[in-house]
Amino acid sequence: MWNKLQAHHDAVKDRRFETMVDAGRAADFVAETGDMRLDYAKTNIDAEGRKLLIDLLDQAGVAAKRDAMFSGQAINDTEGRAVLHTALRNLDGGPVMVDGEDVIPGVRDTLSRMITFSKAVRNGTIEGQGGPYTDVVNIGIGGSDLGPAMAVKALAPYHNGPRCHFVSNVDPADIAEVLRTCDPERTLVIVASKTFTTIETMTNARTAKAWMSEKVSDPASQFVALSTADEKTAEFGIAPNRVFGFEDWVGGRYSMWGPIGLSVLLAVGADAFTAFLRGGQDMDRHFQAARWQENLPAMLALVGIWHNQICGHATRAVLPYDNLLMRLPAYLQQLEMESNGKGVTMEGESLTINSGPVVWGEPGTNGQHAFYQLIHQGTRVVPCEFLVAARGHEDDLHHQHQLLVANCLAQSEALMKGRDLDEARSKVAGKFEGAELERQAAHRVFPGNRPSITISYPQLTPHVLGQIIALYEHRVFVEGVVLGINSYDQWGVELGKELATALQPVVEGKESAEGKDGSTAALVGFLQKHGV
Ligand code: F6P
Repeated sequence: MWNKLQAHHDAVKDRRFETMVDAGRAADFVAETGDMRLDYAKTNIDAEGRKLLIDLLDQAGVAAKRDAMFSGQAINDTEGRAVLHTALRNLDGGPVMVDGEDVIPGVRDTLSRMITFSKAVRNGTIEGQGGPYTDVVNIGIGGSDLGPAMAVKALAPYHNGPRCHFVSNVDPADIAEVLRTCDPERTLVIVASKTFTTIETMTNARTAKAWMSEKVSDPASQFVALSTADEKTAEFGIAPNRVFGFEDWVGGRYSMWGPIGLSVLLAVGADAFTAFLRGGQDMDRHFQAARWQENLPAMLALVGIWHNQICGHATRAVLPYDNLLMRLPAYLQQLEMESNGKGVTMEGESLTINSGPVVWGEPGTNGQHAFYQLIHQGTRVVPCEFLVAARGHEDDLHHQHQLLVANCLAQSEALMKGRDLDEARSKVAGKFEGAELERQAAHRVFPGNRPSITISYPQLTPHVLGQIIALYEHRVFVEGVVLGINSYDQWGVELGKELATALQPVVEGKESAEGKDGSTAALVGFLQKHGV
């Protein structure tokens, strides 16, 4: 199948896809669910290419693997675990069995404890030593930070709870900057860590505890833990009724739907948080029921596979024309690259095609004034993914929103159409002539024929945010199944962690750098000379 796709690509790669984009294609090369729309008409995928791509899904057995995931089978088979973040947003579905036990009652019980707790914090029934909480500090990293931080920003128009801050980096500059703005007597600290061993998080948690101890007589009472590791949270001194637990079948980067989302719940309240979960659940149901061609996650994945594995474009840019989604690219970097950045198949053999792409991006229109130069005229093609809402939340500034939308649509049009030499000449005719005109015109040529997709929706509500995040999660799943890799482990982060632990005493000067490679030893030497 890969060969057929490659042959098809070779046959069509030089055509200008712009010539295909008529009203018929615009209606056909689209997938919709509810009011969310994925438009992939501005790509070089044609009906034949789409058919071959969809064949990949059937050949890889995506439907059976999807059903295995939703039903709690241990599809994370290097760690022997189920993959059930979908259970966390299963608000009114049937049972999900893991090892013969229905996990749904436990999920709902935890959600209801989270809601009760958040209501009490928000209405001041649960308070700090100095009164109702004004600030919440979420200490976590990776999946215990990126999801909730992204969602709190995305749902800013719905924010009516205490201020939320996020500390992730072990760099003391991060926590110092946040704690400086908080009153320890009115700050709730959330230690978010699935394992409760992550060195950055535990170091920051101890720093926060020390900071709070200076003013608060019982600092542990102002701490909450979100973790799968009950014993470790108890060792840290957090009371069991302040621990919101989850199971190892929730991967870190998929965990914002459960306890790791507590900061989001505190910020926006139970109704908005439940609407977010409902959005995720609606996307789950769509993913399970829709035919592939109408299935948003499946088509999003296939467009990605076309651009990365078939066309060979190594990166993709995620470009939200929605400032509220400013943290989405960072969130997706973990979701996509930690999941599908793998070189070995499920069977332990080397991957013979490329793994997932490099994902990067910034909100529009900021990116336009930074890296779009390369996207339009650089020698490498960067497939772009635009996200845009019909409406913002600022009714009185709707004209600005319209300008934003115009910019978004203009970019995908410009990427597709480009500007040829004749048109470029006409832009400079009258200003230059002869050889200089030719030289100046050459700089104003846009190759065009550059693919993009656009995901659009009415407004970034909590429900829509839930749909978007579940859409991307399932895209990662589909890509992973087609590539034959395990999207749910992350062995690639381990080596650096081990070496950092071994290097710490060397950096501190307690052990010599002897035996280290010359470069590392020299770097330690330089940093020690300057006071590390
Ligand atoms: O090191 C990678 C990682 O394990 C991520 O997968 C995870 O999201 C992050 O670290 C944080 O882990 P934890 O929630 O256990 O602190």
